Amino acid sequence: MIAESQPAPWEHVAMAAVEYRLGFPESVREEAAALYDEAFAAKLRPGMRDDVARRQVLAEGLDPSRCIAALDDGALLGIAGFHDAGGSLTGGITVRSVVRAVGVLRAVKAIAVFALLERKPKPDELLMDGIVVRADARGRGIGTGLFAELEAYARAHGRRRIRLDVVDTNPGARRLYERLGFVATETERTPYLERFMGFSASTTMLKVLD
Ligand SMILES: CC(C)(COP(=O)(O)OP(=O)(O)OC[C@H]1O[C@@H](n2cnc3c(N)ncnc32)[C@H](O)[C@@H]1OP(=O)(O)O)[C@@H](O)C(=O)NCCC(=O)NCCS
Repeated sequence: MIAESQPAPWEHVAMAAVEYRLGFPESVREEAAALYDEAFAAKLRPGMRDDVARRQVLAEGLDPSRCIAALDDGALLGIAGFHDAGGSLTGGITVRSVVRAVGVLRAVKAIAVFALLERKPKPDELLMDGIVVRADARGRGIGTGLFAELEAYARAHGRRRIRLDVVDTNPGARRLYERLGFVATETERTPYLERFMGFSASTTMLKVLD
């Protein structure tokens, strides 16, 4: 039970001044890897089943400069990864680190699966590379705040649009993107991935910046 004099965890998150910054500090690298993995395990696990190895590869390979981070008193609340000409949040994952984590044979499969998920940004766009907010902090505007910072970054760097992909099993995230002005442009049906990754379609959404 929570004592009356102490704020409940959700009050703490709601009252705190959330700090948004370009890039996560090295002090939260492990947290960032765990958060990213938790959100995208369904997509990543078919390539690399070993949870410890997968987190290790992420922790080694995340490029901290390619995201907007939301922090509360030094603790990581969320990250919005992006991919542009300067690289991507997951762009530091190397073949060598995957081989080191799972051996050559398993690395071949992992790299093939990760390649399936790989997208390339066009020169004038910012491509999302995963957005995730800590489970106990969701629904309080942090995702919206991350997008606001991301948009400011995109504008400051001369990008004309932001592109992202959302799977059919994530209608909550899609609703958020629609509220933020993203428009669905095409849907790729992937029924062959349903048993493998849990989703059977992926929709590309675009926000054109004025
Ligand atoms: C999607 C996500 C980043 C939104 O972050 P957030 O801080 O909760 O976002 P906000 O508080 O600004 O907005 C909440 C909106 O997100 C949507 N949402 C999606 N999943 C949610 C969840 N588990 N809890 C609360 N809201 C969620 C809600 O529909 C809500 O929209 P509404 O205000 O119109 O009802 C967050 O829910 C998350 O990390 N989900 C897991 C990872 C994920 O699915 N990432 C997107 C992959 S495309």
